[in-house]
Amino acid sequence: MSNTQPAPVASEHVELKARKVAFDWQETPLHWVPGDPFTTHTINVLHLLLPAGERWFVHVYQQALPYITDDRLREDVIGFIGQEAVHSQAHDDVLPHLRRQGLDPTPYTAQVDWFFEKLLGDRTLPPGRARRWWLMERVALIAAIEHYTAFLGDWVLNAEELDRRGADPMMMDLLRWHGAEEVEHRAVAFELFMHLDGGYRRRARTWALAFSALVFLWQRGVRFFMENDPSLLDPKVAWADFYRKGREGVLPSTPAMLRSIPRYLSRSYHPSQEGDTAQAVAYLASSPGANGGR
Ligand SMILES: [Fe+2]
Ligand SMILES: [Fe+2]
Repeated sequence: MSNTQPAPVASEHVELKARKVAFDWQETPLHWVPGDPFTTHTINVLHLLLPAGERWFVHVYQQALPYITDDRLREDVIGFIGQEAVHSQAHDDVLPHLRRQGLDPTPYTAQVDWFFEKLLGDRTLPPGRARRWWLMERVALIAAIEHYTAFLGDWVLNAEELDRRGADPMMMDLLRWHGAEEVEHRAVAFELFMHLDGGYRRRARTWALAFSALVFLWQRGVRFFMENDPSLLDPKVAWADFYRKGREGVLPSTPAMLRSIPRYLSRSYHPSQEGDTAQAVAYLASSPGANGGR
């Protein structure tokens, strides 16, 4: 059942635990990257995608648990489920704040809910091959998406330009606490996929699906926010803006994103080759939100 797995680059296994978090959005301005609605809303799309997306991770992984034959991996998956459940809730908790500021995300989140709950939800399949096939497709999709959550987590932990521009500390802490846990658990989804299936064609196919879906949903989300932002008179969105903000260091850079593609598709890929566990763990120890909002 399990395929040969590429070896992690270092033995840096950490026990995964869900942290209790506390964030208060009252002081966070509409454009929490000052004077930069495009960057603010590009990052805000996370609050639209992650509540439903991470709930879906949890739902799929609960179905995958009985198939795991490795005790340590099962513990990791249980820790992963706990962390993703908290992430989903923490981003969901930002939405009432956006509503108070005149940005009602319901028309968009209704589409995202449909995408994860219906399109990628459970199907009425007979027990056996078909049901397992659909479960494995979704496990592989999650591994591909987690390549990007780890990429983004590593990026935001190091995105000092946002601090220099006065980005809201509460929002930065939410993003960095979440990003740090994404770095911390970055190997789990890939290792689960390799343990249960590991087929290269499935890995490549689901990567293409996940990447296209993320780009599609993300640009729609940015447009949605820009068009509904009550303070913007000219809500035009262009790919060039994303490229430019990436160069400035307030969004991930396009070349770095393109370079991450062949890494995931390499046969020797293992998530431990990316990101820095020590940096993530250090951030989690100092994060105000992850330490009771002190
Ligand atoms: Fe997450
Ligand atoms: Fe994750």
